[in-house]
Amino acid sequence: MVATKLMIPGPVELDEEVLLALAKPLMGHRTPEFEEMLEDCWRLLRMVYRTRNEIALITGSGTAAMEAAVASVVEPGTRVLCIGGGKFGERLGEIARCFGAEVSMLEVEWGGSFAPEEVDEALSESGAEVVTLTHNETSTGVVHSAEAVGRAAREHDALFIADAITSVGGDVVETDGWGIDLCITGSQKCLAAPPGLGFVAVSERAWEWMQERKAKHAFYLDLLRYRKALKKRTTPFTPSVTLIYGLHAALRRIERETLEARIRRHRALAEATRRAAEAMGLSLLPSREHASNTVTAIRIPQGLSDDDIRGRLKREYGILVAGGQEKLKGRIFRIGHMGEVSARELLSLLACLEQVLRCSGFEVKPGTGTEAAREVLEAELGEALRACGGG
Ligand SMILES: Cc1ncc(COP(=O)(O)O)c(C=O)c1O
Repeated sequence: MVATKLMIPGPVELDEEVLLALAKPLMGHRTPEFEEMLEDCWRLLRMVYRTRNEIALITGSGTAAMEAAVASVVEPGTRVLCIGGGKFGERLGEIARCFGAEVSMLEVEWGGSFAPEEVDEALSESGAEVVTLTHNETSTGVVHSAEAVGRAAREHDALFIADAITSVGGDVVETDGWGIDLCITGSQKCLAAPPGLGFVAVSERAWEWMQERKAKHAFYLDLLRYRKALKKRTTPFTPSVTLIYGLHAALRRIERETLEARIRRHRALAEATRRAAEAMGLSLLPSREHASNTVTAIRIPQGLSDDDIRGRLKREYGILVAGGQEKLKGRIFRIGHMGEVSARELLSLLACLEQVLRCSGFEVKPGTGTEAAREVLEAELGEALRACGGG
């Protein structure tokens, strides 16, 4: 069976080096050999996170890391401001409600973003002690200004939780520079490791907050337990040894590519996708100003269905792209260009997309999308074009 090509916003395709690492025999998780690997994972994670903070490494998906961040700082009655604007931004609000927080939502239109003043006003009005944001909102293909939220959080002395699950390792995330107190990511997105690991980079301020309050409604996801283990350079519970092998191999690829080059590649792929979509006569959901650099959300043209695009791409070409979620279901499709995606994958997808659009009755001159994308890729990546990825 030929595997379906994944062009979704995670899980992403894994490099052979990562796949082979997953096949290695298990090590004991409390041995010096394994601890050495963990230590190197933390070093590399700090590099991609742009932080000096300690990072909790959780066996669980990204949502487990989101829950750990919220459950460790929120108590019944804690005032939390959640910035919406998509499925994942709203999820942080749902989690906070689960732990008894008094949640106020800063409603943001799906596909749009917010002005920094709105965050400032909402923080003043709600008197929130904690503010949450999904930095790169995968459900709408929007990247929000985490920097502006971090600034507002400092001014109001609020703790800042950011879900950077689809930006760390693919776009600029300045965990320390932007003052993110709890910065969350997951393994299966821009890091291009297998799904199943979640991470939270925790600031000194957030550790102090937890120590003072000792919110006690989590056990496995209580970050203070991770801190205690971090002091001994280990994890509090048995980690998925195999996934850590995969993570380590994936992070080493990022180090080889360099974070700067990786971000440049993601940005070039995103710009190429946007230009190609526009050249084909398609329209993007977000405005260019807020468009994500790791996932592109495109409106399904009038008269066409989700099946005309996504169904055909999968059936006729074996390529999987993502659909719209919740209120955007059937209205958009989303192309993931994160992780190891190179010009090769993107140009083939765009060529196939042109074909399915034409066969579904949408007029596109063959080659318009791919040519627009190629121009961007050549200008942005130059010689690195063919070699993009960790090599
Ligand atoms: C921005 C964002 N946050 C959170 C999640 C949830 O992560 P997981 O599915 O790994 O629990 C996702 C998954 O797509 C995401 O894209």
